[in-house]
Amino acid sequence: MANKANISANSSSCAALLVLAISFIGCFAEERDIYLVLIEGEPLAFHGSDDKRRFDLNSDAYKGQAKRLMDSHDRILQSTLEIGSYNKLYSFKYTVNGFAVHLTPTQAKKLENAPQVKLVERDRRAKLMTSYTPQFLGLPQGVWTQRGGDKNAGEGIVIGFVDTGINPSHPSFANYNPFEPNISHFSGDCETGPRFPLSSCNGKIVSARFFSAGAQAVATLNTSVDFLSPFDAVGHGSHVASTAAGNAGVPVVVDGFFYGLASGMAPCARIAVYKAMYPTVGTLADVIAAIDQATMDGVDILTLSIGPDEPPRDTITMLGIFDVLMLFARRAGVFVVQAAGNQGPAPSTVVSYSPWAVAAAACTTDRIYPGSLLLGNGLKLGGVGLSGPTCGRPLFLSKLVLARDVILRVNGTFPRTPQYIEECQYPEAFEPSLAQGSVVICTFSDGFYNQTSTLTAVINTAITLGFMGFILIANSHYGDFVAEPIPFAVPGILIPKVSTSEIILQYYEQQTHRDERGVAIKFNAQAGIGEGRVASFEGRAPIVSRFSSRGPDFTDLSRNPTDVLKPDVTAPGHQIWAAWSPVSALDPMLTGCNFALLSGTSMATPHIAGIAALIKQHNPSWTPTMIASAISSTATKYDNYGQLIMAEGFEITSTYNSTHFDFGSGLVSATRALDPGLVLSVEFEDYISFLCSLADTDPVSIKAATGIWCNHSLSHPANLNLPSVTVSAVAKSLILQRSLKNVGNKTETYLTSVVHPNGTTVSLYPPWFTIAPQGTQDLAIQFNVTQAIGDFSFGEIVLTGSLNHTVRIPLSVKPVSIF
Ligand SMILES: *[C@@H]1O[C@H](CO)[C@@H](O)[C@H](O)[C@H]1NC(C)=O
Ligand SMILES: *[C@@H]1O[C@H](CO)[C@@H](O)[C@H](O)[C@H]1NC(C)=O
Ligand SMILES: *[C@@H]1O[C@H](CO)[C@@H](O)[C@H](O)[C@H]1NC(C)=O
Ligand SMILES: *[C@@H]1O[C@H](CO)[C@@H](O)[C@H](O)[C@H]1NC(C)=O
Ligand SMILES: *[C@@H]1O[C@H](CO)[C@@H](O)[C@H](O)[C@H]1NC(C)=O
Ligand SMILES: *[C@@H]1O[C@H](CO)[C@@H](O)[C@H](O)[C@H]1NC(C)=O
Ligand SMILES: *[C@@H]1O[C@H](CO)[C@@H](O)[C@H](O)[C@H]1NC(C)=O
Ligand SMILES: *[C@@H]1O[C@H](CO)[C@@H](O)[C@H](O)[C@H]1NC(C)=O
Ligand SMILES: *[C@@H]1O[C@H](CO)[C@@H](O)[C@H](O)[C@H]1NC(C)=O
Ligand SMILES: *[C@@H]1O[C@H](CO)[C@@H](O)[C@H](O)[C@H]1NC(C)=O
Repeated sequence: MANKANISANSSSCAALLVLAISFIGCFAEERDIYLVLIEGEPLAFHGSDDKRRFDLNSDAYKGQAKRLMDSHDRILQSTLEIGSYNKLYSFKYTVNGFAVHLTPTQAKKLENAPQVKLVERDRRAKLMTSYTPQFLGLPQGVWTQRGGDKNAGEGIVIGFVDTGINPSHPSFANYNPFEPNISHFSGDCETGPRFPLSSCNGKIVSARFFSAGAQAVATLNTSVDFLSPFDAVGHGSHVASTAAGNAGVPVVVDGFFYGLASGMAPCARIAVYKAMYPTVGTLADVIAAIDQATMDGVDILTLSIGPDEPPRDTITMLGIFDVLMLFARRAGVFVVQAAGNQGPAPSTVVSYSPWAVAAAACTTDRIYPGSLLLGNGLKLGGVGLSGPTCGRPLFLSKLVLARDVILRVNGTFPRTPQYIEECQYPEAFEPSLAQGSVVICTFSDGFYNQTSTLTAVINTAITLGFMGFILIANSHYGDFVAEPIPFAVPGILIPKVSTSEIILQYYEQQTHRDERGVAIKFNAQAGIGEGRVASFEGRAPIVSRFSSRGPDFTDLSRNPTDVLKPDVTAPGHQIWAAWSPVSALDPMLTGCNFALLSGTSMATPHIAGIAALIKQHNPSWTPTMIASAISSTATKYDNYGQLIMAEGFEITSTYNSTHFDFGSGLVSATRALDPGLVLSVEFEDYISFLCSLADTDPVSIKAATGIWCNHSLSHPANLNLPSVTVSAVAKSLILQRSLKNVGNKTETYLTSVVHPNGTTVSLYPPWFTIAPQGTQDLAIQFNVTQAIGDFSFGEIVLTGSLNHTVRIPLSVKPVSIF
């Protein structure tokens, strides 16, 4: 006995040495990262039965089952890896069964082969889907773009936000409603911490949690910005939440100027906060833990203005863990809306892939902020920037100087010559007596091009030296730049067009005297900056924003198109005013502000979330797919001129007729979506059959990701009952089916009509039908190819009801051959 113990002690110390040696080597060769792991066995939400019956979270049965799942995760790790060599961050128990663990790639490989492990995926990190940081100016071409209510509206509905947290003291989130909402279906919590006292959960904010194990595993958090509480130090989460569910009629005031009133789409909906993104880092592990918890808490709607910014590496797009989690959230009855991405306008840039989540594209509205610059010769030029007029007076003119002409010279040389003096980044580079009281022309150059120069620095220079105002002009060497209106603390204007910039320079040179060395000695030019903070409502709108990611949807890294329409629908996402966090950890320019004007599909997403809340309130029994159908089938493809909605192209002023790959079904309409007439709905099992019918998936990976075998598959993936038809290859002829349900309360007769996609003829059977309330009707759609076209072409099916309902089903097909 003693002998045996001895031997085993010896052998185990040898083993320990060996492990030490390996991990020692590992230290140099391998970087640890977070891995997301799915495990065999049903998660709690679906344990033992298929119905959506909710657990009593406080019951012993629930707690026992939760513990069993957690223990099983620990057992798998312990039996596969050396204890102490890994760090489990989360057990996911409710929506999916799995965990997040911090370890080396070698350990991850081992885990992949462990029994019960279905799927191992490296954490791809998560990003905020805001397109522009006011800090930086971008150019339209080049690397960047190629990379790419009423009083109770929404009452009783809980919208969950997985984001950067919330600013609880913002007036958009004050609780004005004296009534306790009936949200018995929801059970949240109020986690407190820095800047987030218990009183933050005030009834408007019904729950607030934060998830940080992933962030803490991969980064050293900075306690002065990465608050370990639901408090939003960035502003993004507050912006998104107030757009969906912010109180109505909140005055937007920035730098003392009143811009108007802000309201959320569903101002009486309740807010559940799931903070998972930090200024320093955002991990998928924290995001997934947040979504798992939100589903368990029972949110009605989940808003994801964040997500992985690239497709998964080792699996098809729809079977990445993020997408699988959304599938199960939908199975549990949650309506999930996600940002389409900000990598447009190149095709196949969407970062939303799956038919079970609604992807929001972004468009402009008809509100613009026309800035103006007045020159001493009477010329008035247009520009961009939310600033007051120079000297507080609209037509005030003062001396105009070019930055290069007012640099500090000592004994004829520069005491300090920082790079890109013309970009006004350094106050010490200028001669204070010449700069003070002048309107100074700064010029776009390498610093802005390389994203090292900032507008904050320009403004800082202007304040330090007492500029009367600044003008940032374009440079013909780089071409026009993209400018967004941002509130400036001093009068200023951005002139993004080279042609306008040249007019300014020409006038300036005419009025400026130079000595024989070219040094400016007398400045006679004058300029004034006009009021730029007053909105004007004009022009064609909406227009799909340049940055908004485009379809077609695709299945893998090689971007093979798949038979699903993405984006699904379009909502305003350009220059949206909403709540902000004065800490503004990622945008020094907006520090101290309570509101911000932002652009991105991040801003379009909460518009859809808010409208979904209104639909759910009016139709409490509707499933997420019915809500999604109502939103898509009632969207419009026409703009305020009554013409097809345009989309911005690569060139700065170019636009083209939108296709479904730009705007999905079109611009969302809240009023029509509340009363769609017919809906197309999909059950959970249909999604599995759909996955099983995709050409490039195998049943084993579907079983691994979803836990379900492919016992059924659709005869064609495009037969999934979506409110759109997308077919990436039609040869000769194809018949597809759709099933429609009357959700109106009257019998209605519908006439069908078709706009044929180029290269096809489309026939519908039956051509007309009468449908009773709650009745269903099948519709057969036959495509016959008349001409092979190597690309997608677009059309639509329109069902026009006798009671004025209109149901539109977009068609996107690639007719590949007539044989
Ligand atoms: C709250 O709503 C639930 C169903 O959503 C209902 O069963 C319950 O009676 C309601 N409670 C109150 C106080 O209205
Ligand atoms: C932490 O953040 C603060 C505020 O942004 C910053 O001033 C400080 O340098 C940061 N500290 C570290 C260690 O990055
Ligand atoms: C400028 O030149 C004068 C005379 O050469 C010299 O005395 C003075 O120190 C110089 N000033 C600086 C700041 O270099
Ligand atoms: C900045 O961009 C220019 C191109 O205009 C390039 O030549 C230069 O090397 C870049 N500088 C840095 C520091 O990246
Ligand atoms: C764009 O669509 C309009 C219909 O709204 C059509 O008249 C026009 O010809 C189209 N333009 C192009 C370039 O296809
Ligand atoms: C589905 O198929 C799997 C494997 O072929 C089989 O084990 C399972 O019993 C089937 N399930 C049903 C419901 O038919
Ligand atoms: C029927 O539906 C319409 C529109 O949805 C609604 O205004 C009306 O109140 C409903 N009528 C009944 C009897 O439910
Ligand atoms: C349809 O396709 C034909 C042949 O490719 C092309 O000439 C025509 O312009 C297309 N029409 C539209 C509306 O795209
Ligand atoms: C489409 O093709 C099918 C089979 O080839 C044929 O029966 C049908 O008549 C065609 N429909 C039209 C509208 O051409
Ligand atoms: C349908 O719309 C037309 C025109 O807007 C209107 O005259 C008619 O009364 C409407 N019919 C119903 C049933 O609402």
